[in-house]
Amino acid sequence: MKIFNSIEDIKRYIKTLNGTIGFVPTMGALHNGHLSLINRSKEECDFTIVSIFVNPTQFLPGEDLDKYPKKELADKKICELSGVDALFMPTNETIYNAIEPLILAPSQKAYILEGLNRPGHFDGVLRVVLKLFNIISPTKAYFGKKDAQQLYLIQNMVSSLFLHVEIVPCEIVRDYDGLALSSRNAYLSQSEREEALNISKSLKLASKAMMKGELDFSKLREIMRENMKNLHVEYIEAVDREFNKIEKITLKNSIILVAARVGKTRLIDNLWV
Ligand code: PAJ
Repeated sequence: MKIFNSIEDIKRYIKTLNGTIGFVPTMGALHNGHLSLINRSKEECDFTIVSIFVNPTQFLPGEDLDKYPKKELADKKICELSGVDALFMPTNETIYNAIEPLILAPSQKAYILEGLNRPGHFDGVLRVVLKLFNIISPTKAYFGKKDAQQLYLIQNMVSSLFLHVEIVPCEIVRDYDGLALSSRNAYLSQSEREEALNISKSLKLASKAMMKGELDFSKLREIMRENMKNLHVEYIEAVDREFNKIEKITLKNSIILVAARVGKTRLIDNLWV
């Protein structure tokens, strides 16, 4: 596996590749969720490139940028063992200029839900993803449904800016007990982890109620809220696939989204209906 820190070096390497390129952008502290994206890329593309970059512009002041988990050695091993062809690990200075144009995520979709609680977060996400796409020129890029709003906004950017990349949405990977895998799970104590399980459990309860025919979201929200009584719930919402908020679930076109804090850790999860 090749490891690159500079844009010139990875671009030179990419020029030598003869075939399709699958790209998996990450912030590191890799887990099986990331691995599922890597495996999908390996199945579908001739070459797989992973980036690890803890992108400062998507963190708000006071968020966990400084203590975001870093596991460089383990990440390199995981990538190597899973057959990644190249790993791109740039520095902040490599990615950002002191003066540069900004990209703004569309406010009506980027300042709701995650964006309401983290205003400006998605501007930073789109900014870095666009830069990474321009460096790597991937055929396909792999993103998790776990970050549903991020996925939607990236798909919107690709179609709005006519970017030459196919976005591949990948299923949410969960731990044995249902907790959605996240690099931030590392912050949880044992008892917080047990509390956090109520997030995925509440989504399961909503799913059961929907199977019995309950499609009124205010009722489903109540069921979920009841199950997350001990958590600090930031939001429980339902949207259609265009991220318009809805009050009635339509099958195959809805996503139920949750954000909650367990202690100091903020977790998100969702269910694609
Ligand atoms: P990060 O949180 O490291 O996630 C990288 C990718 O892995 C994202 O597409 C995310 O949706 C996916 N992922 C995370 N947990 C997952 C899970 N349990 N199941 C399936 N996929 C999962 O998302 C980011 O980094 C950044 O915002 C980034 C896109 C790299 C831009 O900085």
